Amino acid sequence: MSSPRTLQWVGDGQGFVRLIDQTLLPTRLEYRECRTVEEVWEAIRVLRVRGAPAIGVAAAMGVVVGMQTHPGDAARLREVCAYLRTSRPTAVNLFWALERMERTFEEVRVALSPQAIHERLLREALVIEDEDRRMCRAIGKAGATLIESGDGVLTHCNAGGLATADYGTALAVLFTAQEQGKELHVFADETRPLLQGARLTAWELQQRGIPVTVICDNMAAQVMKEGRIQRIVVGADRIAANGDTANKIGTYGVAILARAHGIPFYVAAPSSTFDLSLPTGAGIPIEQRDPGEVTHGFGRQTVPDNVPVYNPAFDVTPHELITALITEKGVITPVETRTIRSVLTSAT
Ligand code: MRU
Repeated sequence: MSSPRTLQWVGDGQGFVRLIDQTLLPTRLEYRECRTVEEVWEAIRVLRVRGAPAIGVAAAMGVVVGMQTHPGDAARLREVCAYLRTSRPTAVNLFWALERMERTFEEVRVALSPQAIHERLLREALVIEDEDRRMCRAIGKAGATLIESGDGVLTHCNAGGLATADYGTALAVLFTAQEQGKELHVFADETRPLLQGARLTAWELQQRGIPVTVICDNMAAQVMKEGRIQRIVVGADRIAANGDTANKIGTYGVAILARAHGIPFYVAAPSSTFDLSLPTGAGIPIEQRDPGEVTHGFGRQTVPDNVPVYNPAFDVTPHELITALITEKGVITPVETRTIRSVLTSAT
């Protein structure tokens, strides 16, 4: 089945980015047009477009938008990329995609006209989008082998089609299992404070006819104890060389609960989410977000005035707690530097 496009480029080199405004889901499915680099930056920053792979695609398209007024201008490219890098710090796909756009520019800047350079940048952004779509399908196929019919599966945050160019990472595993005729029941953690699990994951699963039950984050232990969860599958924002994984705040707690209950804990992510320059997760920058997301979530004050709030958007799950990494190149287990390097450097 085809889903609404999370984001897409509309038109030629002078076109624009159209994306689902995810802040309005699940009650409103509306698109937003980003015609300036500032609008792309804002869409990433406030999570209109979110999820590591989708952020990477949006940033690549943001470069094209930003270069429209100065095609072929190296100083402008540096400025646009530096600006987009400040939108969010944790998902490495953002930095990966911007580096790729800069590399592409360098490859052609001498040989091509400004207009042709611009067309080349647009082509690269579309290639990044297309590759992401294909990587998600491959992740689904690799991961579905780990799912058995009848499984109860817990997921945290949203790692579905809305978080990627299409189809998702963690949810791709479940979509593929469903397409193979396996019967599943998914438990979606609500995912405080921005409720990506309740608003987005539940919406996507419902669209595809996969039975889903939303639970508050603090109910996961009880649901595991009741024997309703056979596997856990989550996405990732950045995976260090040893497999330590940054993902939405609360993921680390879920991994500890999984270990305590003897439940396999899987992380699904494309190779663009690995940061092999970091030996461990200790070096992963963790985004700190506005306390207002906690104190005034969705329109109502829930914390007294002047009480301090801590609001990290991500945490890091140590690799020892991860049963396997599911990538487009295959399943990596045990999760350690040696196995990760060997799978990621293999040709597909
Ligand atoms: O703050 P968000 O909504 O961008 O966080 C998203 C996540 O943590 C996802 O699990 C992760 O990016 C993987 S998306 C395929």
